[in-house]
Amino acid sequence: MRVLVTGGAGFIGRWLVARLLTDGHRVVVVDDYSNASPENLADLVDHPGLEVVVEGDLRNPDVVERLFAVDYDVVYHLAASIRVQDSIDDPRTTFDNDVVATFHVLEAARRQYFRLNGLTPGEPFHLDAVAHRLVDRRPRFVFTSTCMVYGRAGEQAIDEAHPTRPASPYAASKIAAENLVLSYGHSYGMAVRVARPFNTYGPYQKSNLEGGVVAIFLANALAGRPLCVKGTGEQTRDLLYVEDCARFLALLGERVDAGLDGAVLNAATGEDVSIRDLAERIAAGAVPVTHVPHDHPQAEIMKLVGDAHRARALLGFTPQVSLDEGLSRTLAFLAAHSV
Ligand SMILES: NC(=O)c1ccc[n+]([C@@H]2O[C@H](COP(=O)([O-])OP(=O)(O)OC[C@H]3O[C@@H](n4cnc5c(N)ncnc54)[C@H](O)[C@@H]3O)[C@@H](O)[C@H]2O)c1
Repeated sequence: MRVLVTGGAGFIGRWLVARLLTDGHRVVVVDDYSNASPENLADLVDHPGLEVVVEGDLRNPDVVERLFAVDYDVVYHLAASIRVQDSIDDPRTTFDNDVVATFHVLEAARRQYFRLNGLTPGEPFHLDAVAHRLVDRRPRFVFTSTCMVYGRAGEQAIDEAHPTRPASPYAASKIAAENLVLSYGHSYGMAVRVARPFNTYGPYQKSNLEGGVVAIFLANALAGRPLCVKGTGEQTRDLLYVEDCARFLALLGERVDAGLDGAVLNAATGEDVSIRDLAERIAAGAVPVTHVPHDHPQAEIMKLVGDAHRARALLGFTPQVSLDEGLSRTLAFLAAHSV
C-alpha cells in the first residue's frame, strides 16, 4: 500500500513510519518540523519504502493539495499541536494545527475518494444513491485523537462511550477534529477511524520541559537531578509504550474490514500508575522526588486509565511492552543520546 503519515517526523509519527516500512508499505511523510527534527527519521531515510519526506505546513491548503498528487490507500493523520499548556496560552495555534489543518487533509482525502469512485465534486451528494459504487474504492483515514478528550471519571477504566469534556483548547480541538472526521464517514461513506491514545512514552519523545512525564523524569534521573511531581502526584496515567501505540495505529489503517469504519478506539494498556509512584520507581532512591504546584490544575484529569476491551475485540490489539521494559528501553535511548 501507499500511505501518507502527517506529523511523521514527530515522536509517535517516526515510530509509525518505522512500523509501516517494516510492514512493507510505501510511505510518504509530511511534517513542518514545528515540534520535530529531521534527525528523528535519520535511520529510516535510506529505506527503499520511504518515498519522500516533505517539509510542509498542513495549514496551507496548497501544500496539502500537492501531497495528494498521488493516491493513498491509507492516510494516517498525526500532525497536531500537542501541548495542553500551549493551547491555554495560545489557543489559535492549536486550533489552526489541530482543526483547520485536519479539515484540509480531510478535504484532500475526500477529493481523492470522489475521483476514485467517479463522483463529481460540487454536485449534490446523496450517499444512498452512490453507495453501491463505493465498494473497494475506499481509502482509510486514521485520525489520531487523544485520551485528553475524556471528562473526569470515577475509579473505572474509561471506555469509548464515556462523556467527552473540553477541559483545554487542545482537548476541544481534538473533539472538534474527530467529529469532523467522523462526519465524513456519515456524510460520504468514507472509511474513517479514530484512535484515542492514552499517554504514550518511549525513545524520541522530548525530554525537556516540553516532553512527556516519563521522558522528563528519566532524563532528570540520568542527570542526577530531583524529579518534580506536579500537584499531589495522585493523578494517574495509563502509559502506553510508543511501539505499541505505533502498532495500534498501523493496524487500524491496514485492516480493510468495514466493521472498523466509523470506529472510535482507545489505544491503552488498561492499567494506570500514579505520577508519584512513577517518580519513585524511576528515582529508585538515587535522586529525590519533590512536589511543585500544578501549572494548569483546571485542565488536569486525576484518574486516567483506558478501557482496552473494544480495541482488543475489534482490532485484536493487546500491548506487548510492559512498563518496566518500556522504561528501560527509554532510559537506554536517553543514555545513548546523552541528554
Ligand atoms: N504523545 C502522546 O502521549 C499522545 C497521546 C495521545 C495522542 N497523541 C496524538 O498523537 C499525535 C502525535 O503526537 P506526538 O506525541 O508524536 O507529538 P509530536 O509533536 O512529536 O508530533 C506531531 C508532529 O506534527 C508536526 N506538525 C504540527 N503542526 C503541523 C502542521 N501544521 N503541518 C505539518 N506538521 C505539523 C510537528 O512538527 C510534529 O512532528 C498527535 O496528534 C497527538 O495529539 C499523542
